[in-house]
Amino acid sequence: MWKDLEISVVRCDSEERKAKPDQDNLGFGTFFTDHMFLMKWNRENGWHDAEICPYRNFSMDPAAMVYHYGQAIFEGMKAYKSDEGQIYMFRPEDNIERMNTSALRMCMPRIPVEKILKAMKALVYLDRDWIPDGDGATLYLRPTMIAVEPALGVRPSEQYYFFIIMSPVGAYYAEGFNPTKIWVTDKYVRAVKGGVGHVKTAGNYAASIMAAQEANRAGYTQVLWLDACDRKYVEEVGTSNIFFRIGDELITPPLGGSILAGITRDSVIQLAGSWGINVVERRISITEVIAAIEDGSLREAFGSGTAAVISPIGELCYQEKKYVIAKGETGELSQRLFNELQAIQNGKQDDPFKWVVRVG
Ligand code: COI
Repeated sequence: MWKDLEISVVRCDSEERKAKPDQDNLGFGTFFTDHMFLMKWNRENGWHDAEICPYRNFSMDPAAMVYHYGQAIFEGMKAYKSDEGQIYMFRPEDNIERMNTSALRMCMPRIPVEKILKAMKALVYLDRDWIPDGDGATLYLRPTMIAVEPALGVRPSEQYYFFIIMSPVGAYYAEGFNPTKIWVTDKYVRAVKGGVGHVKTAGNYAASIMAAQEANRAGYTQVLWLDACDRKYVEEVGTSNIFFRIGDELITPPLGGSILAGITRDSVIQLAGSWGINVVERRISITEVIAAIEDGSLREAFGSGTAAVISPIGELCYQEKKYVIAKGETGELSQRLFNELQAIQNGKQDDPFKWVVRVG
């Protein structure tokens, strides 16, 4: 596995290895594994010095451009262990390709898909003892690219780091798979067409924090964003895409340039479609959603994302009024999608879409 990588591999000494966290209290993204992947880019050499090495701090110039102008992109993906101990990843090439879409928009260099996939698999395999066994617990991978050239002019950096760190995680929300309460904001906006809302760049998340804090203070888990022009059409939830089951349709907002092209979103569309459900990608206004809650045609709503998987929505709050969805319970389709996706990801179920990649 290591020989054909052209990546240097330095393993931790046994005394450098960290104690594994309690599997029942992993939280999300607070523990990190023993190793990481790092490679560097500059104009003369392209990507070079690729290494898998012990997890370590970076030493960077305070003028590194990422600190000043936020040229930073990332991905979120997961590795899973089956009951038999086989390791799988879910659609990893799609994440790498999406990172290249983000790189293009942010004037950053492309990463080589095949090589990064190999590096990812090697890294996951090396730290395989960190993949948690618990129900719903997984190993989360965070591929990230940052601008490291020390310079204060506003222009693309001429030097970058690309790295992958890994974290054993439990459910993203404290609610686990229980329905979340979502705060619809018409005060703040996330993204506008022509901007960067469709790519996974750090600034999108920084800009979302204030609205999320207001939602949390009011007792809500996440923010539902509306379009930036009319503050009328539903876009996405803080860390996931959103779906509404209204009558016989499963409706999700279309990817119009301000919404992230979620890989879980796409998986839901394909999976539900294969079950004969009429999946419709169209604009849906918040007033239509509320009317459907009030007349009982909205049967369930859920978010989809790598971190959040499928997260049922039990309540919306819009303009200070609360709307309970599906009696505040998990809907039947949300449950089915969650079970099926998890079963495919964990290798417990056939994978008709060829989404799952074996590691090791
Ligand atoms: C993911 O779902 O992997 C994400 O990147 C969301 C994250 C910001 C927690």
